[in-house]
Amino acid sequence: ADHKIAVISGDGIGPEVIGASLKVLNAAEAAFGFSTERTEITAGARHYLSTGELWTPGLQEQLREQDAILFGAMGDPAVKPRILERGFILEMRRTFQQAVNLRPVKLYPGVKTPIMGLTAERCDLLIVRENTEGAYVGRGSTVHAGTAYAVAVQESVNTRVGVERVVDYSFQLARRRRGKLTLCHKKNILIEAGNLWQDTVNDLSALYPEVELDYVHVDAMCFHLPVSPERFDVVVTDNLFGDIITDLGAVIQGGLGVAASANLNLDGAAPSMFEAIHGSAPDIAGKGWANPVGAVLSTAMLLAHLGERDAAIAVEAAAVHVLAQLPEPSGPGMGRSTAEIGQDIAALVRTL
Ligand code: NAI
Ligand code: MG
Repeated sequence: ADHKIAVISGDGIGPEVIGASLKVLNAAEAAFGFSTERTEITAGARHYLSTGELWTPGLQEQLREQDAILFGAMGDPAVKPRILERGFILEMRRTFQQAVNLRPVKLYPGVKTPIMGLTAERCDLLIVRENTEGAYVGRGSTVHAGTAYAVAVQESVNTRVGVERVVDYSFQLARRRRGKLTLCHKKNILIEAGNLWQDTVNDLSALYPEVELDYVHVDAMCFHLPVSPERFDVVVTDNLFGDIITDLGAVIQGGLGVAASANLNLDGAAPSMFEAIHGSAPDIAGKGWANPVGAVLSTAMLLAHLGERDAAIAVEAAAVHVLAQLPEPSGPGMGRSTAEIGQDIAALVRTL
């Protein structure tokens, strides 16, 4: 096979949207003449409940040999969310040094957005979220926990090395696009971390003189992103701010069901991981109401990462075409089931 891919479907709608994505991947392989060897990985809430296993050494070894990981979603009401999020997803990002969480915010023509008056040509940006540090390192402590005198301290860790690698990656992206990089932070209040981020951006900008710089506070970003997304080309930000503004970005581009992401390892020592940004959606699991487009667009990002550029472009175009035909972006109003949408996209890929 040309590429080795691990498939972690996970829980809830994870297997449904991944099932649709694999149909599209099959079509892309047939149409573009490449092959993948897929390893199905059993992991997630149900697996944890029956075995107690999370991010085991055996699994890490198995995954490390792969060229990429396609991920569904993990989570179940029967498992405390932090167990899987801290114990598996964050561990994968950290162990495999998936330093960049790349989230395109692109409104495709014909796709409905709740932002009145917003048009597709005004909304095409990339958010680069730092993916291994910041407030998500899990450092902190509580004194007098559970009492009236409780004090909880939660730290944010920002290293020059960690920040520099995502900022440098962002400059490279901006140079290939419209040549603008925006730092999003809260540097007027979070002075220590803010200075490190701004200094890094300023220092690296000497290497990318053709890239224009901008800065926006994270609260102001929540205003500017929906109202004037055309201001942005590449936005770089820390782990927590990135988590928040990318959900806002997903709303702008048509909902959680259509947003894609990549968790990129930049040094080539471990595989990158590709996932829709939504969770396991237990409220609609098993109904066929999940929109698989976010997962399919993540598969397109995976294909581009593996060097299958033509296939990636075709999968994206087919997914967007099918998406634009849906009367609603999710639920019974879609008029087609998750599996049918996967078939529609796959059929279109074969003709492109
Ligand atoms: P969620 O993203 O699963 O669902 C939020 C809302 O959006 C729900 O009403 C759901 O029905 C809807 N939705 C999500 N994806 C959709 C799709 N593709 N098509 C149509 N509608 C869609 O977030 P929630 O409810 O906060 O979390 C559910 C579980 O997922 C929890 O256990 C949580 O920990 C986990 N989770 C896992 C993530 C991951 O695996 N990376 C990310 C986010 C949450
Ligand atoms: Mg999130």
